[in-house]
Amino acid sequence: MTTTIKSAELREMKTDIKKADRAEMAAKLGDALASTVVLYYKTQSVHWNVTGPLFGTVHQLTEGQYEDLAASIDEIAERIRALGAKTPVGLSTYVKNSVIDDLTEWGDVEDMLKQLTSDNLAVADQMREFVKIAEEADDVFTADLLTARIGALEEASWMLSANL
Ligand SMILES: [Fe+2]
Repeated sequence: MTTTIKSAELREMKTDIKKADRAEMAAKLGDALASTVVLYYKTQSVHWNVTGPLFGTVHQLTEGQYEDLAASIDEIAERIRALGAKTPVGLSTYVKNSVIDDLTEWGDVEDMLKQLTSDNLAVADQMREFVKIAEEADDVFTADLLTARIGALEEASWMLSANL
């Protein structure tokens, strides 16, 4: 599913970004938020459950990654508010709207690393689509924010895969 935000529900603002564009962008950011929340929890559960010779490396690597994801969750949500919309609420909403699947059980460390490697890229690809929409709407700040997130996610994916 995807986040829906109605134009009529938006705060009135004097800005060059059109109201309909603000609503669309807020909805896309809602989807980006959902994916980031799911990735945050998956990354942290690897941090907790990893075992074996790679324990120290992966435990430490995922700690930096989930801290970065947590900070970005706040940034994305507050951008939705700055655009005049309300953020989506509820963990079940995030699971439904995320581009990556939630998961309740991990396999071995290789399974963990492979899954997180592709999850990070999947969220980056989703955001890349949203950057185009932000640019068309002249929402340069959102384009910038998402571009920075793409860089962080692609780097995370590389670092995870380098352990395979
Ligand atoms: Fe920890």
